[in-house]
Amino acid sequence: MVAVGAALPAGCSLHLERFTPRASSGGDAPFEVELRRSNRTVAVAADGTVLAAVRAELPDTAYSCEQGFCGTCRQRVLEGEVDHRDELLTDAERAGSMLICVSRARGGRLVLDL
Ligand code: FES
Repeated sequence: MVAVGAALPAGCSLHLERFTPRASSGGDAPFEVELRRSNRTVAVAADGTVLAAVRAELPDTAYSCEQGFCGTCRQRVLEGEVDHRDELLTDAERAGSMLICVSRARGGRLVLDL
């Protein structure tokens, strides 16, 4: 899909729809997520999601597709480096937020504005 978009002549547009989430690169590691406003820290297992860990503490946290498509689960990131695994957010949006249903931490810790 990326190659097709790159091969288009200038001025042409392309609409893409993805029906499966981007595959994990494998070898995921566990990490912690601090929920700053709630004064809590949750553990995300190697095979778990930030969304599931957050919802265990904050069950009203919004979500829908759980596949990185809809943007409902988008949260503001205060600290930490994100491994973005969605296909929705722009680079500018990724600078300060993440989709917690699919994306993970690159390091051992993230801080979210939750
Ligand atoms: S729940 Fe849809 S993008 Fe996360």
